[in-house]
Amino acid sequence: MSTTRTVSVTLGERSYTIEISSLERLGKIVSAFGSTNRALIVTDENVDRYHADRAAESLAEYFDEIEILMITPGEPAKSLLTSEKLWERFAEMRVDRRTIVIAVGGGVVGDLAGFIAATYMRGLAFIQVPTSLLAQVDSSVGGKVGINLENGKNLVGAFWQPKAVLIDPTVLSTLPEREYLSGLGEVVKYGVILDAAFFAMLEANVSKLLERDPEILSEVIQRCCRLKADVVEQDEWERLGVRAILNYGHTFGHVLESITHYRTYLHGEAVSIGMDFAARLARRMKWIDDAVVLRQRELLTRLKLPVHAPKYDIDDVFEIMRRDKKNEHGQICFVLPQYIGHVERTDVELSMIRDTFEEAYRAD
Ligand SMILES: NC(=O)c1ccc[n+]([C@@H]2O[C@H](COP(=O)([O-])OP(=O)(O)OC[C@H]3O[C@@H](n4cnc5c(N)ncnc54)[C@H](O)[C@@H]3O)[C@@H](O)[C@H]2O)c1
Ligand SMILES: [Zn+2]
Repeated sequence: MSTTRTVSVTLGERSYTIEISSLERLGKIVSAFGSTNRALIVTDENVDRYHADRAAESLAEYFDEIEILMITPGEPAKSLLTSEKLWERFAEMRVDRRTIVIAVGGGVVGDLAGFIAATYMRGLAFIQVPTSLLAQVDSSVGGKVGINLENGKNLVGAFWQPKAVLIDPTVLSTLPEREYLSGLGEVVKYGVILDAAFFAMLEANVSKLLERDPEILSEVIQRCCRLKADVVEQDEWERLGVRAILNYGHTFGHVLESITHYRTYLHGEAVSIGMDFAARLARRMKWIDDAVVLRQRELLTRLKLPVHAPKYDIDDVFEIMRRDKKNEHGQICFVLPQYIGHVERTDVELSMIRDTFEEAYRAD
């Protein structure tokens, strides 16, 4: 891995740097933040199998004691039950305020370990080492940490910024193909919502992206982190509605995830179909023309992402859309493109959504 890239996230005293380089840098980065000789890694079994040795070796240069806490891979780990086990383990291990928690894993590990760090003894420093593409371009940036309840995802949590983020694009080589492609769904999203030049860069580099070329990934990850950091810097606590543009493709995507009980689609796959849906909706509202819809669909399809909406009962679709916590006064809010590189929030009439849905599932 040759180039080191960085992204500065400027949030007053909570500012930090995202470094895109190599796992071997972990020890050095972590040692800058504490006066303890103990490093505590939270990871999952898949990530541990492939990458824990490199992480631990790097830490061993700077720390006498390295503890690894392992969780079972998968979304169910983002639970109160796992949290309680981790809090109890922290207590048994006599973790104190000087301990730095290092999350090495995908979004599940990052959200969970970040939540434990935010809450244990009212807050410990933590460092994110995201290992899935989704975590590298999305969940490790912005400070949202949390767990799920039976009644909904991410309902309990905090805004808790890491002290640093270290991203090694080469760890993506072991990520299962579907997980990797799903992450590309979020990558395309950034281009559509904020950056036409970035979108064009993705179009020009599809084969390198599919090969997981570390150089192109390093640049892509840096640009996505910069774009997300720009949004987060304007609205750290999600109070101004600025962060809402990040939900492009998510309104309909969330319907698909929810209607299939999170068993059929990976998140980025649902978002990909959701972006195609949003573009169709924007075309119906005369915000964009055919060319934009087709251009987005072509890029998603070349990246092996699904775009086709299956047929469901429209009343179930509305029911789920209405439950979305982002809607106010019973209206259904969408983020829609005005052109590649720019989106706006808008309330949409039900008849428009219904007609778009019919159009989408009938399309080839
Ligand atoms: N905090 C935020 O702002 C934010 C934003 C988006 C998503 N999220 C959350 O992120 C979670 C999803 O994250 P995810 O898609 O990374 O899922 P994940 O953490 O479950 O990882 C996906 C799978 O890939 C495996 N894996 C991860 N890195 C690997 C690697 N390098 N090699 C081999 N296997 C690897 C994991 O073990 C898991 O099986 C959800 O819980 C979602 O709510 C949070
Ligand atoms: Zn998302």
